[in-house]
Amino acid sequence: MALLLFLLLAISIVSADEDAFIGVNIGTDLSDMPHPTQVVALLKAQQIRHVRLYNSDRGMLLALANTGIKVAISVPNDQLLGIGQSNSTAANWVSQNVVAHYPATNITNICVGSEVLTTLPNAARILVSALKFIHSALVASNLDSQIKVSTPLSSSLILDSFPPSQAFFNRSWNPVLVPMLSFLQSTGSSFMLNIYPYYDYMQSNGVIPLDYALFRPLTPNKEAIDANTLLHYSNVFDAMVDAAYFAMAYLNFTNIPVMVTESGWPSKGNSGEPDATSDNANTYNSNLIQHVLNKTGTPKHPGISVSTYIYELYNEDLKPGPLSEKNWGLFDANGAPIYILHLTGAGSVLANDTTSQTYCAAKDGADEKMLQAALDWACGPGKVNCSLLLQGQPCYEPDTVAAHATYAFDAYYHLMGKGPGTCEFNGVAAITTSNPSHGSCVFSRSVGKNVTFFNGTFPALNSTSSHSRGRYLHSSASTSGVILIGVLSWYVVFL
Ligand SMILES: *[C@@H]1O[C@H](CO)[C@@H](O)[C@H](O)[C@H]1NC(C)=O
Ligand SMILES: *[C@@H]1O[C@H](CO)[C@@H](O)[C@H](O)[C@H]1NC(C)=O
Ligand SMILES: *[C@@H]1O[C@H](CO)[C@@H](O)[C@H](O)[C@H]1NC(C)=O
Ligand SMILES: *[C@@H]1O[C@H](CO)[C@@H](O)[C@H](O)[C@H]1NC(C)=O
Ligand SMILES: *[C@@H]1O[C@H](CO)[C@@H](O)[C@H](O)[C@H]1NC(C)=O
Ligand SMILES: *[C@@H]1O[C@H](CO)[C@@H](O)[C@H](O)[C@H]1NC(C)=O
Ligand SMILES: *[C@@H]1O[C@H](CO)[C@@H](O)[C@H](O)[C@H]1NC(C)=O
Ligand SMILES: *[C@@H]1O[C@H](CO)[C@@H](O)[C@H](O)[C@H]1NC(C)=O
Ligand SMILES: *[C@@H]1O[C@H](CO)[C@@H](O)[C@H](O)[C@H]1NC(C)=O
Ligand SMILES: *[C@@H]1O[C@H](CO)[C@@H](O)[C@H](O)[C@H]1NC(C)=O
Repeated sequence: MALLLFLLLAISIVSADEDAFIGVNIGTDLSDMPHPTQVVALLKAQQIRHVRLYNSDRGMLLALANTGIKVAISVPNDQLLGIGQSNSTAANWVSQNVVAHYPATNITNICVGSEVLTTLPNAARILVSALKFIHSALVASNLDSQIKVSTPLSSSLILDSFPPSQAFFNRSWNPVLVPMLSFLQSTGSSFMLNIYPYYDYMQSNGVIPLDYALFRPLTPNKEAIDANTLLHYSNVFDAMVDAAYFAMAYLNFTNIPVMVTESGWPSKGNSGEPDATSDNANTYNSNLIQHVLNKTGTPKHPGISVSTYIYELYNEDLKPGPLSEKNWGLFDANGAPIYILHLTGAGSVLANDTTSQTYCAAKDGADEKMLQAALDWACGPGKVNCSLLLQGQPCYEPDTVAAHATYAFDAYYHLMGKGPGTCEFNGVAAITTSNPSHGSCVFSRSVGKNVTFFNGTFPALNSTSSHSRGRYLHSSASTSGVILIGVLSWYVVFL
């Protein structure tokens, strides 16, 4: 009876103030870590709108500026002691890593440390101070309502997680967890949790069925039922999220939302890891994405989806440990997908077909003079090889400025590794997923990782400037290799 009363009191005060999202973690333990501009190009091409960094790398924060991508940054564990011991160190950290970048870079969360209680127990005593110092520095900069502070915890802190209604935190950490939860509650922040059904499944010695870990449909008689609440659980993820809600409720905190800072599945493992396969990784991540975006919520909080960052963007070949450790990524270092997610109906996150190309094309209805100026620039200073646009060459027809500009814009965009701002051309170009290839004029080409990022940017021009077709090239043709003369669209190639 007491338990029932307690459960009733604990019911759904949690609310979602914003739609739950899917984000992706960006680990950087790669021998050939892509340049930040390439990382951001991949995020854009895949429509990834939320990322979490394990640090506050300046190059990444700059590359993410003005992209609309929302960013969770982290205080790495090795900086935690300094920050937790000194509010001025914390204030300096915030000024260098947050204030210097916001709002161009839309920082939404600061993760203070990573699984501190389980990986760096010595720092436990200063963890709450670190949270508070970082928060005070945000308050001082008037950023505390936009940027939330929390600390991702390992789900191994939650004991007896099934049935979820009986879950509780390892009591030895209550002296840290209670003030931490008070802090999260008073600042409107989320409880950050890393959830790995892969490990729960692996360590369960067959108790947890694979289907239950992978969100595969279960026959109703296989669903796990929490005898206290009579709630039906059909996957490990939901059970773990609800266990966190119950463990918090056990300490009398009932209105702190859960955010999952890491979850995923490895696509490859050694002989002792037979379930680390790309099929399982695909199934887990595809189902996880749909589950979050579906707004199904959990049995305890139906309709309240839990924002989740997938672990992780890239396979990290430098990670120590078993083979699976290096194979949690959705992409390899070249941005090629490890597997193609099945996301039918999932909407706007991660294109269904992760191999789907993006192209850069002239905007419909763009001013012809501006297109021409941009075309001239791309084929000249932009260093695009425009010889296929010559009469008699495959991309000459249709002989319109828009078609030729599309060819040159797309070539430039690829040449620049699809970096931010490389498909703009003063607003006459736009990224598209429809392939502008026609006949023997084929646009798709592989993007080498060896693209040379040169210094040039497309100069600001406007439609009243008097560039006529070809003039720009005449004046700068000496290095371009291509010259375009007069109104005849007649190109000459110097070789
Ligand atoms: C830092 O701590 C000192 C002493 O505890 C206090 O006087 C000061 O106001 C704090 N500064 C900030 C920015 O919180
Ligand atoms: C940052 O993202 C938040 C959350 O979506 C949004 O409300 C806010 O307008 C964004 N801020 C900027 C500066 O773009
Ligand atoms: C609880 O945490 C303490 C301190 O880290 C640890 O020694 C103990 O093994 C944990 N208990 C369980 C059951 O995990
Ligand atoms: C939770 O609140 C109840 C009722 O106010 C109280 O009896 C109990 O001691 C509290 N538990 C904790 C862990 O604070
Ligand atoms: C998404 O929601 C639909 C209907 O609410 C449900 O049938 C489906 O199983 C859900 N998918 C996932 C992956 O949760
Ligand atoms: C994914 O595929 C479904 C069905 O084919 C489609 O409705 C949806 O728009 C697609 N999503 C994306 C992001 O392409
Ligand atoms: C430009 O492309 C043409 C056709 O693909 C090729 O034959 C020519 O060598 C290229 N020129 C340069 C300078 O790369
Ligand atoms: C890229 O550059 C590296 C070293 O500069 C070279 O070994 C490699 O072959 C190049 N790859 C391509 C595709 O050109
Ligand atoms: C980039 O441009 C700056 C100034 O315009 C110049 O000093 C620098 O040498 C250029 N770098 C390269 C790699 O061309
Ligand atoms: C466009 O060019 C004209 C003539 O040079 C100039 O008066 C005008 O201010 C320019 N507009 C913009 C937006 O740069």
